[in-house]
Amino acid sequence: FFGFDLSEAAEPLEYDDEQEGLEDEVVIKFSHVVAENTPKGKAARKFASLVQERSNGEIKVEVYSNGTLYNDQNEYTALKNGHIQMIAPATSKLPERFPKWQVLDLPYAFPTYEAVRQAYEGEIGTTLLNDLEEDDVKGMTFWYNGYKQVTSNKQPLTVPADFNRTHFRIMPSPVIESQFQALGASTSKLPFNKTYTNLEVDFIDGQENTPSNVYSKKLFEKQKHMTISNHGYLGYVVLMNQAFWKDLSEEHQTIVLNAMSETTNWVRRHSIEMNDAYLRQMKREDSIEVHYLTSEQKELWKQTFQPVYEEAEHIVGNRLIEKLYELQE
Ligand code: LMR
Repeated sequence: FFGFDLSEAAEPLEYDDEQEGLEDEVVIKFSHVVAENTPKGKAARKFASLVQERSNGEIKVEVYSNGTLYNDQNEYTALKNGHIQMIAPATSKLPERFPKWQVLDLPYAFPTYEAVRQAYEGEIGTTLLNDLEEDDVKGMTFWYNGYKQVTSNKQPLTVPADFNRTHFRIMPSPVIESQFQALGASTSKLPFNKTYTNLEVDFIDGQENTPSNVYSKKLFEKQKHMTISNHGYLGYVVLMNQAFWKDLSEEHQTIVLNAMSETTNWVRRHSIEMNDAYLRQMKREDSIEVHYLTSEQKELWKQTFQPVYEEAEHIVGNRLIEKLYELQE
């Protein structure tokens, strides 16, 4: 992969160019927790190949998927310590460190894909990314996955009462915890890659995730029902180690930024069809039944979530909540 035949090295080298090339090679270790064939998995690969190609191999992006290098509980620390250079956690993994990020988890925050884009690219996104400077982490962009759907092993989840006495796996965001509490369910914060086994042993009855995650991690095999609730949006923040970023040459920074914005546009467009395809696939599976909400049922969910907004206002601040309401108009 160095782009030349290694057998040439058997010849005495008069010029040490190739050798220098090797030493100068910049390596970005990019760790994430999902499967390859998902919006994030594919975006990471696309970004890696764009950067490698445009830097003529001077920058190599090594992608570690499926949590094989770090999981969602330790990847942020590994990034800060410089053991890896890039991660792209779900935005819902940030609130424990940066509470304001919960604004993105508010139930029914985003009525359309366009509203998600406006939140990421507008004042909400900029404010949240700026928060990260405190930690010496560079927030590069937001990547897209899709709307979360709820799945369960008990009864179909169509009205809030169906959640009574059920236990759900959630990501570590207090707003998500409140969302399930409002529905009458209890929750456990568990790492993504532990979700399958916890469903298998019936420690949890259900979970919420995008069709691409539910399918690629085979969660549907352990769940009898999925409700297309579209109640929350799962997206990612792409992070880079700040010291590493500052050490990159200006030319390399430009290559990275251009590759990033191209990848962001790509994943925004393709994440929708990827999730649609996985949903269609799931409808063909015998193990899981897919349900839709009537508009009355959806209205009931929304009313149930009202206290979650009131609670979140104190944490997130009026400004971001107001901005969110503007997107909902
Ligand atoms: C989850 O924990 O469910 C998600 O964050 C997984 C992912 O990264 O898409």
